[in-house]
Amino acid sequence: MDRLLITGGRKLEGTLAISGAKNAALPLIAATLLTGDTLELRNVPELADVVSMMRLVQRLGVASTYLPGEPGRVAFHCQELLSTTAPYDLVRKMRASVLVLGPLLARGGEAIVSMPGGCAIGTRPIDLHLSGMERLGAIIELSQGYVTARAPAGGLKGARIELTQPSVGATENLLMAAATAKGTTTIIGAAREPEIVDLALLLSSMGAAIEGAGTSTITIEGVAQLHGAVHSIMPDRIEAGTYVMAAGITGGRLHITGGDLGLLGGAREKLEEAGLQFTDTADGFAVSVASEGLRGTDVMTRPYPGFPTDLQAQFMALMCNAEGASMITETIFENRFMHVPELARMGAQITIHGGSALVRGQGARGTTLRGAPVMATDLRASVSLVLAALAAEGETEINRIYHLDRGYEHLEQKLQAVGACVERIP
Ligand code: EPZ
Repeated sequence: MDRLLITGGRKLEGTLAISGAKNAALPLIAATLLTGDTLELRNVPELADVVSMMRLVQRLGVASTYLPGEPGRVAFHCQELLSTTAPYDLVRKMRASVLVLGPLLARGGEAIVSMPGGCAIGTRPIDLHLSGMERLGAIIELSQGYVTARAPAGGLKGARIELTQPSVGATENLLMAAATAKGTTTIIGAAREPEIVDLALLLSSMGAAIEGAGTSTITIEGVAQLHGAVHSIMPDRIEAGTYVMAAGITGGRLHITGGDLGLLGGAREKLEEAGLQFTDTADGFAVSVASEGLRGTDVMTRPYPGFPTDLQAQFMALMCNAEGASMITETIFENRFMHVPELARMGAQITIHGGSALVRGQGARGTTLRGAPVMATDLRASVSLVLAALAAEGETEINRIYHLDRGYEHLEQKLQAVGACVERIP
């Protein structure tokens, strides 16, 4: 299995381009099931999870072709559904596979989707997806690890759906199912993440009638059918936030292109509180550390526009190099501190108290990060180890980096280009 070798202690300097967003690409590729016309997506990132989603929709009937010209241009065409089953062997590799449930129900009147099961960061049930589909009239059965959902005669019917928590996946699935349902659907308590706005933009360009994406109340007027479109996937705000913290933890300065500062939501304020400073530029923004250096800062993860859970691990690594203590509270997933013992192997001073972790930064007791062999456990935990390694004294070996390849395009090339000493060992 590939691993990364990183020698720390170098300030990152230079320009780094942000790729298309993983968490937008996955639902948008699922949406290609919704039309019989050709749909062109641009800025599609080269990621293992994107390949998995393309494999899944291919199994269901979507032909995809990489187009010449700029990288990341892909044409998708689902002349007709070849299957309505999302099998266990694909779904178990990537939970986001459940996002084909809505499109299959809408286009084929039936969806047989393997239950995703738990993952490293939490149990992650899909009850809100299923209860929402039931509100649209679907009959749901669970057996042998599969969800079988069937639309009523005449297809799905618009309804009022109240989400008890702002689930990103459930909002996306229901948006795609409701786009061609008969009548009006209102999703109350919807998630507000920018990736949902990007999905709604694509669906609208395919002919859907959607109001309120990005707010907690979304209204969808069902239309008879959806047509082809061309859409460029939004930049990855989590990747941007990650590289912002790579600049911070190394005391460097980066010009981030293709990223949108506004998409950082509540994270920007916390990063500034922690000692980072931002300047808007024509093609993105610049980030550096204020002269007083990094300061201990408390964060609590929240649904958008709050501090994203997908930046929690990276922020914890950053706080290891800050002056003073920080309390980091995770409220979205019940098991998202897998990076703590690995950071501790690198000399970090972190104690866990229920859903919170107390980080004693470098200044408090002269604690410094030191290179060590560590193990990646999930996507964001693994990149927090990369950040710690960039700041650590000596060499760090990160194992199981297939986790990184799921969500970071060309990570080591991007870091090498701004001065990092990082090498992939096949
Ligand atoms: C999306 O996951 C992202 N994944 C996650 O990013 C991200 O952490 C998460 O949203 C929160 O922002 C993709 O977009 C592919 P949720 P999703 O449904 O949709 C509970 C990464 O690192 N819940 O908003 O699965 C759930 O258990 C990944 O890129 C239910 O209880 O997240 C969790 O506690 C990791 N029932 C909370 O809601 C449901 O039916 C939020 O989950 C659905 C969710």
